[in-house]
Amino acid sequence: MNLTDTMLAELQARRSGMSLDRKFYTDPDFYRLDLETIFTRDWMFAGHDCEIPGPGDYLTMQIGDYPIIVLRGRDGAINALHNTCRHRGSRVCAAKKGTAKRLVCPYHQWTYDLDGSLIRARQMDSGLDKTKLGLKPVHCQSVGGYIFVCVAPVAPSFEPFQAQVESYLAPHKLSDAKIAFESTIVENGNWKLVWENNRECFHCAANHPELCRTFPQTPTVSGVEGAMSNPEIKAHWDRCEALGLPSVFQLSESGQYRSSRVPLLDNAVSYTMSGQAAVARPLSDAITEPRVGSLLIFHYPSTWNHVLSDHAVSFQVLPIGSMQTQVKTTWLVHKEAVDGKDYTIEELTQVWLATNDQDRRVVEENQIGIRSPAYEPGFYSPDDESGVMQFVDWYCRTMQRGLGGGRANLGRVA
Ligand code: FES
Ligand SMILES: [Fe+2]
Repeated sequence: MNLTDTMLAELQARRSGMSLDRKFYTDPDFYRLDLETIFTRDWMFAGHDCEIPGPGDYLTMQIGDYPIIVLRGRDGAINALHNTCRHRGSRVCAAKKGTAKRLVCPYHQWTYDLDGSLIRARQMDSGLDKTKLGLKPVHCQSVGGYIFVCVAPVAPSFEPFQAQVESYLAPHKLSDAKIAFESTIVENGNWKLVWENNRECFHCAANHPELCRTFPQTPTVSGVEGAMSNPEIKAHWDRCEALGLPSVFQLSESGQYRSSRVPLLDNAVSYTMSGQAAVARPLSDAITEPRVGSLLIFHYPSTWNHVLSDHAVSFQVLPIGSMQTQVKTTWLVHKEAVDGKDYTIEELTQVWLATNDQDRRVVEENQIGIRSPAYEPGFYSPDDESGVMQFVDWYCRTMQRGLGGGRANLGRVA
């Protein structure tokens, strides 16, 4: 049986409501199929508009085997290019971020304009058709201050996601924010374990003392069911919607993305130890009421987000191996907020730096246990892990469709 058929057979045999078979979390070949079927076919979160505010500002990222440059052109538009020189293939930009008038390959100095077109091929200018040797374009779209890229030759439509989340994000004016702090960590765990851990707060009480001061552990907040019938959440939506902030829980038909505004505990306004704002200057001039809770948006498989009244925190998830995942966290504040006056980095980042490290540890312990041949799939809690089941169902459906396995099978009932 070839690899695709092996995975399809495993997906077919999967028991609904249970964690996946060991190979899905450990096997390098299954990991390659994840990359080919999801990460290099769909939209991935690249960064924020405000990270590259001026012409020539760029950021780089790596999606599987694809190095990518995302940059702002002279016309102010944001574009993405394959970071692979058309001479002999060297990566052109190695820096994580920077500003360039032109992109010069460090190997033999082929020089590209900001739109990727080849300007100069050193000592080879004559005889080459430069119009055919520009850096190859990558699909690039942005919504509400978030840039997404897709390396597939034909990208899936971005519009449905845009249509769902644009109104939720618009009042927060993230295109006008600034990056206050970034942290990148590597978790020694398969990317699906990182997501499974994110999609429930069943583990929060025992692992996240800082986050639990302000973030509700109820599965109606982190999961995908029950929010509509939770009176506290419903009252929060009514209050926020009256302020002009779209808030009601929405899960896309495909299950790939969700937006919902949730209340924090005890009228807390931010993820701080006190529950008070971490930033004196509100994130958006359009939102003066501080008690608007947290706008939660996820888009599988590359980002989850919390947008508060005083700051926003975005998370980028990119796999770097079958049992290694990079998680980049970015804190955004009003662009005129002043470090040391309106906020301190220490207070702004304390809760999520601690939470990320705690999550890294639980993901790594989960991975170590799953690597054991003694591991076998276990039952998810229907009450506390509905979000995890929703993620795993989305993953299995997406893989089955992508691998040509026909109509998705949600698995046998356990
Ligand atoms: S590989 Fe880029 S200039 Fe030679
Ligand atoms: Fe966690």
